Amino acid sequence: MADLANLPDDGQPRQFPVITDRVDAWTGYDAEPIGAVYVKREKGSDTVEALSATCPHAGCFVEMDKESKCFRCPCHNSAFTLDGGIVAPSPSPRPMDSLECQIDKSGSILVKWQNFYTGIEEKVARP
Ligand code: FES
Repeated sequence: MADLANLPDDGQPRQFPVITDRVDAWTGYDAEPIGAVYVKREKGSDTVEALSATCPHAGCFVEMDKESKCFRCPCHNSAFTLDGGIVAPSPSPRPMDSLECQIDKSGSILVKWQNFYTGIEEKVARP
């Protein structure tokens, strides 16, 4: 998705699309966007953290509010810290969903994309 060398270590989340081939009944779609992730790297760190951009409340797309330094969901006004924590009061029952990520030997950032059930306190992956 991106190289560690190209992700500034300034603690600012950057948005990346999740793109894959998919089949809808008998129609195939190549390289379709199916979601997005926010990835950030702290100062001097060689590791990254990733959050799903899907709101845990009802699945809308969470946007970054650079002015307020937080994430906001436009659907029902949930707000989250840049670490994904809930800013109360919030209709979201849980923080933003973190995603597993690793850096491979070539320095590429690999994020394991997953969808989770919305509207519940527990983070439960959809099959
Ligand atoms: S879907 Fe995000 S606040 Fe409701």
